[in-house]
Amino acid sequence: MANEKNGWTRRQFALSLGAAVLAAGCESKRRASEARRFPSTFRWGCGSSAFQVEGALDVDGRGESIWDVFAKQKGHIKDGSTPSLTCNSYYRYKEDAALISAANLNSYKFSISWPRLFPTGSGSLNERGMDYYDRLTDALLQRHITPYVTLFHWDLPQRLYELGGWTSRDTGERFADYAVAITRRLGDRLKNFITLNEPNVHLLLGHVIGNHAPGLHNGKLIGPVTHQLNLAQGRAIQAMRALRNDLTIGVGLALAPVRPEGGRIHLLNDIAALAFDEIWSGAFLDPLLKGKYPVALHQMLADVVQTGDMSTIHQGCDFIGVNYYSPTYLKADFSGPSFLGPGGTPAGVTQDASGREIDPSGLQEVLDRLTKDYGALRLIVTENGCSDPLGDHAAIINDEFRIHYLSAHLRAVIQAIDNGSRVEGFFVWSLLDNWEWDSGFTSKYGLVAQNVDTGERTPKKSYAWFADIAETGLLPA
Ligand code: GCO
Repeated sequence: MANEKNGWTRRQFALSLGAAVLAAGCESKRRASEARRFPSTFRWGCGSSAFQVEGALDVDGRGESIWDVFAKQKGHIKDGSTPSLTCNSYYRYKEDAALISAANLNSYKFSISWPRLFPTGSGSLNERGMDYYDRLTDALLQRHITPYVTLFHWDLPQRLYELGGWTSRDTGERFADYAVAITRRLGDRLKNFITLNEPNVHLLLGHVIGNHAPGLHNGKLIGPVTHQLNLAQGRAIQAMRALRNDLTIGVGLALAPVRPEGGRIHLLNDIAALAFDEIWSGAFLDPLLKGKYPVALHQMLADVVQTGDMSTIHQGCDFIGVNYYSPTYLKADFSGPSFLGPGGTPAGVTQDASGREIDPSGLQEVLDRLTKDYGALRLIVTENGCSDPLGDHAAIINDEFRIHYLSAHLRAVIQAIDNGSRVEGFFVWSLLDNWEWDSGFTSKYGLVAQNVDTGERTPKKSYAWFADIAETGLLPA
């Protein structure tokens, strides 16, 4: 029936609606394949962590961390390698800075080793340890590279672990003291901080699954460790902001879409995925940004949260660092205490050499969701990268695999920006092939290869490719 009022027949309306949807789809498809330019203010960077690149574990007064102890225990490290040298960046940091600069990168995410500043985690400052970070900071700033400094990237001082580690409230107080010492000495030059790197990974791999330091297998620790990590972060942010009002402080979380094994038709697996997502993401984002835990966690936190804790934790932050690699799969598992178990990756998906599924849409999903759930947050992709398909030196240098991976994930960032997310930067993990925790040297994530025997650094094909993008801001079609 013609609707005389506006002269359109239902058919005409349906046809025009269909044409509009089709055009939008084509536009999105066109934009998904065309060259795109990032904002001129975009931060281009790469990442590392102290324990994975510095070496020099027993030098200049550094104390032991839980990873020093864990790595010495037989069977924990896949290739039996030790972190005593890694990339020797304690001595070769100027070469690292030069490589970052030559790649046109304006940002570098590195971590400070807590036991290098406070060998037992507290007490008097080890000046020789602090001097190293003083030198590293100046080497970066001289090359117009902005440091993004992670305060805790898993290398907890062993002495603090012996006194209770992340089940003890005192550890959070010592973390705040450590953050203050750094702010006092380097806060005139270091302005961008990441409090904790992937507290969710440190919680689960270190305290429940046990393949990371401190190597515990105790699901009952999820509540206490989650809360003490959140409390430590809140105390540190409070203390740093009391000292200086010119700091930009964020947290670095491993975030991923949590999907049910076999798809949502498997109701129990779907419930398991939703429950895990609360522990994996909500347990850290909600208290920091909303001042409360997800309801699903209230029971496991009942005996842990004390009066005033939530207001201490609820500090907000200036940005969320998103570390994204691949989606996570979960299934209901009634054989374990938590009824949650790791789900299988779908058959036939593309994986990297470490077995991680390659799915760039997951990065866009994470960014879109953060913006939807927490408002117009400032976001930085603080880690994204893949491990090389292992091969000979030539294959490792000719890393087309990594170029395709990074190109697809940068496109996912562009699409999230198109959708309204305030993504301000992208840091590749990693600058160098480094020591990959329990995988030792068997997983290689670097834009630059490192010969472990000679220390020789060789830029891979992806290094020049990423340098061009960092220089022009242009992602090729
Ligand atoms: C992490 C850590 C890095 C890893 C990287 C590759 O995200 O697990 O921050 O230390 O080396 O992610 O697995």
